[in-house]
Amino acid sequence: RTVFVNGEYLPETDAKISIFDRGFLMADGVYEVTSVLGGKLIDFDGHLKRLERSLNELDMEKPSEFDDLLEIHRKLVELNGIEEGMIYLQVTRGAPGDRDFVFPDPAETRPTLVLFTQNKPGLADSPAAQKGIKVISIEDIRWGRRDIKTVQLLYPSMGKMMAKKAGCDDAWLVEEGKVTEGTSNNAYIVKDGKIITRALSNDILHGITRAAVLRFAREAQMEVVERSFTIEEAQQADEAFVTSASTFVMPVVEIDGAEIGEGAVGPVAKRLREIYLDESL
Ligand code: PDD
Repeated sequence: RTVFVNGEYLPETDAKISIFDRGFLMADGVYEVTSVLGGKLIDFDGHLKRLERSLNELDMEKPSEFDDLLEIHRKLVELNGIEEGMIYLQVTRGAPGDRDFVFPDPAETRPTLVLFTQNKPGLADSPAAQKGIKVISIEDIRWGRRDIKTVQLLYPSMGKMMAKKAGCDDAWLVEEGKVTEGTSNNAYIVKDGKIITRALSNDILHGITRAAVLRFAREAQMEVVERSFTIEEAQQADEAFVTSASTFVMPVVEIDGAEIGEGAVGPVAKRLREIYLDESL
């Protein structure tokens, strides 16, 4: 695989970053995941805008290649022959000469920029999307700025592991009795034809797929309600699903052991997935 590190395209085995990189030592970095379908980047502009916002919120310098990111994404897709898959991009505050809690002087330390591709043939035709996934609920103990897409992913990873141990696929995070989001996706329920999802705030990541899916839903005259919901309400909903750049619209058929609706993929999630894939291609 050819990857991109600080201005260079390299074989992945030759790519190196410093052990003093603040991404490595302090999770002082932000990232984006953009999907590729039919060799085309999906929602690139949205991901770039959110990256810029994440950098701003953390007072992090833009990498010098910022204006060339579209071209770099395209070149990596081409060099690696990606038809379906993802591009991962990470910017960290760079590698000062030593470990220090104080941010390094931006005049002396440049941000580290890393991009790599993930080849995922069959992403759009995923068997999981036919069957739906099962989730457990766990307490949301992440920090208070989940709107910033940082690389602090330890708790989301632990959540996935807890789900796996319970024989499930993912976890929904719950704060003050209400679902915030999934470990790496936004969460939705459907009741009486209404699509219900938590409103945007610092409590959740402002999903790029969420924005697109809600736009398509409204264009298709489906009713969207942005409000919080409990696990109990979700268990009694007609349908549930999640969205993310890596799963598009993914139906959820079980929450904490309770089947949602008929326990199978419902019509709203199915339709939204089809619309999303059609519109994106
Ligand atoms: N995750 N919420 C969280 C906590 C996420 O990590 C993600 C994305 C989303 C969905 O955002 P988007 O639609 O922009 O992908 C919501 C990515 C895919 C990841 O970590 O791999």
